[in-house]
Order: sequence, then structure tokens, then C-alpha cells
Amino acid sequence: MLAPPVVLLIFSTVICAERSQQQLDHGEEDQDALADGDSDDRISPVIWANKEFAFRLYRKLAGHAASKGENIMFSPVSVSAALAALSVGARGETHQQLFTGLGFNSSQLAQTDVDQAFRTFIGNMASHEDISQGTAVFVDNLFQPKAEFMHVLKQFYYADSFNVDFTKPTESADTINGYVSGKTNRKINKLVESLDSSTVMYLLSYIYFKGNWETQFDPKQTKPDVFRMDEINEVPVQMMRMEDVVDTYYDQAIATSVLHLPFNNSYSMLLLLPDHMDTLENDISPAHVTEWLERMKARKYRIFLPKFSIKTSYKLNDVLTEMGMADMFGDRADLSGIADGQKLLVSEVVHQATLDVDEAGATAAAATGVGIMVYSLSQTPELKFNRPFMVMIIKCQTNIFFMGKIVNPNL
Ligand SMILES: *[C@@H]1O[C@H](CO)[C@@H](O)[C@H](O)[C@H]1NC(C)=O
Ligand SMILES: *[C@@H]1O[C@H](CO)[C@@H](O)[C@H](O)[C@H]1NC(C)=O
Repeated sequence: MLAPPVVLLIFSTVICAERSQQQLDHGEEDQDALADGDSDDRISPVIWANKEFAFRLYRKLAGHAASKGENIMFSPVSVSAALAALSVGARGETHQQLFTGLGFNSSQLAQTDVDQAFRTFIGNMASHEDISQGTAVFVDNLFQPKAEFMHVLKQFYYADSFNVDFTKPTESADTINGYVSGKTNRKINKLVESLDSSTVMYLLSYIYFKGNWETQFDPKQTKPDVFRMDEINEVPVQMMRMEDVVDTYYDQAIATSVLHLPFNNSYSMLLLLPDHMDTLENDISPAHVTEWLERMKARKYRIFLPKFSIKTSYKLNDVLTEMGMADMFGDRADLSGIADGQKLLVSEVVHQATLDVDEAGATAAAATGVGIMVYSLSQTPELKFNRPFMVMIIKCQTNIFFMGKIVNPNL
């Protein structure tokens, strides 16, 4: 319901990751992230690619949501981590599409560089209380993935692994959903709706964040107010208020006010209030965020921010296909790095996210699921003549006796 403003807040999770990544970029803090000998040279391009991917995915989701006036909320790092883990097992054109789609330049980076970078990100996140990121892989009892694939997932993506019986779709979905629910403190309870019975593996990534504002809002100051969705529609909200010295920036070029609200744990939320949402959505890039953070000035402000609690759910098959990652979903899929001898394809990529903001702070959670199934010929292919088609009547290889086009079978 609260379309425009919540769109702004998508950047919170981007920024949560962003800020620590920036620290990595600049090598100022979080040196522990680099403790295992990774060089900036190999991690920076992955960080950069992840940011670019975040904005490209945002624009796709915004394009799909625009007509419906929906909130947008997702965790770019969760989607990137799940697809990067999938790309470990992808080969040929399928791998190339995933790699390029995620923004990785294969003349600069190898899969092992990407794996190493995610090891650093996930390892770094996992070390904080109230903030966690991880992956898991659910494998059918009768399916034999390659040892090398499982090894990379465990070593670099910190994947928890489980055996399940995917011939029992309800039970296995419950197992996966229970795991995600536990990892997200019950914020995401039903990532998987239903599973195809030819599923052999389910890959997922989750992220959970809870932060207290460095300066909390006083609940006594929270008052009913209205939120203007557009020129016509208003909705009631509980508006929090505070008067404090805060970091802000006004970006003239895209007519957007930027507010930086830190949590007391080294993460922060970036809130963007544009004059025209379209301008902001179309133009925003990682370079903008870098510039804003550098140019912020501390000033006393009166801040009004609604309390809210939102949930989103996406099936990303179409969006990822549009972003160039088409082959994994069809008979051209090459996932031979996961297992030999069986033709595998991705049945679905789903993503869910939540964001709760109140006087004390914010809680955000997200999970991405990737269903992998066996491509079986018993899946009866379909051919439906429900759109204009041509016909011919022929005899063997000789003549064409009749030929025509059917545009309207009723005439
Ligand atoms: C990939 O990297 C190479 C070498 O650095 C560069 O020439 C090329 O333009 C890059 N490709 C893309 C798509 O950025
Ligand atoms: C952050 O704020 C919360 C709530 O006020 C407090 O319990 C917690 O100890 C603080 N954490 C740090 C690292 O200061």
C-alpha cells in the first residue's frame, strides 16, 4: 500500500552491506574481513559487481511492480550469494550467463575469485550477533552431487547441508521452510510454496539483520499522520519524530534528499526522498551512493519517518531471464558441475524479504531459494495452437497441396 516511500527504504539493506563494503574498499576498518589473506584486488570487483547487480535488479523489480503500486524490498546480497553458489555448478553458456548477469567480468574474475569473495562476505557477516548471512543446500536422498561442488559450497559459502526426500514435496518444503524460519528469527516462514516432485536439490541463502538506532525515536513523539502515496491517494501512518544532528545531503542533479541514519552496530540506513521517484529510480548508481556518503554534512534537522512493517515475495524466473540468465531455466541448462549423467535445470528462483522499522531500530530479513530438478522426458511437452498458425497439406516430399494461415478460427 505505501508505495513510494518504502521504495526508498530498499536501500537500507543495500547500504548495510554497502557501508562495510566501503570500509573494505578503503581498507579503513573491518580489517578482519581480509584477515585470511584476500587481496583487495580480487574482492573489490566482486563488491562493485554486487552493487551494480543490486541496482539492475531493483530497476527490473520496479518495472514489474510499477503498474501495481507495490512496495519493493529485497536483499541484493542474498540473491547474489544464491546465484553465485549456483554458478559454481554451472558450465558453458549457462555459467557465462550467470556470471555476466551477476555483473562479473570473466576477463577479470574467475569463479574461484567470486567464491573467495563470498567466503569473506559471509564469514564476516556470520561473526556478528543480530546479523547473519548464510547458505544451505538440501539434497535428495537418492541424488549424488559431485563432491567438488559440495566442497566449494561448504568451504566458501558456509553451506549447511541436509538430506531430504523430495518425493515427499510437502514434508521437504516444510523442512526447508523450518530452516529458513529459524535462520531469520521467524521473519520468513514460507519461502517454498510447493516443490516439483522431480526436485533433486534446493539451494538457498538467507540474511537477517537487526539494528538499534544510534539515536532512538521517542515513542511519545510518534503521532498519527498521513502519507501521500501519490497526488490522489493518502493513507494514515504512525509518524515517528526526532530533532537531532543528522547526516544529510541534497543531490541537486536528481532532486533527492538523502538521510543517513546510523545503527549502533556500524551499519546504517540510507533514506532517499526524491522529488520525482522516476528520476531517482532510473539514475541511481553505486557512484551516487559513494558520493552521498562522502559529501554528507551533519546538521540539526527535524526528522519524520513512518513506522512500518512490510513483506515482499517474488518469483524471479522472468526477471532473471530478462537480465540475460535464461538458459538455466530450460532444456539448454548446463548444470553439469553439480552432477554428471542427469540433465538438471533450475525450476524456480524465489525471494522473500521483510523490513520492520520502529522507534528502536530496524529488523530486516530475506531469503532466496533456487530449486533444481531433473529434466525428464516424462514431462510431456505441450504444443498449443492458441495463436495464429500456418497449415499445409502435403504429400510426402512432393507438392504442397494447400497452404494457409489461421488467424481467427471462428471466421
Ligand atoms: C571486462 O574486462 C576487460 C579487461 O579489463 C575490459 O576490457 C572489458 O571492457 C570488460 N568488460 C565489461 C563488460 O565490462
Ligand atoms: C545498541 O543499543 C541497544 C539498545 O539501546 C543496546 O541494548 C545495545 O547494547 C547497543 N549496542 C551497542 C554495540 O552499543
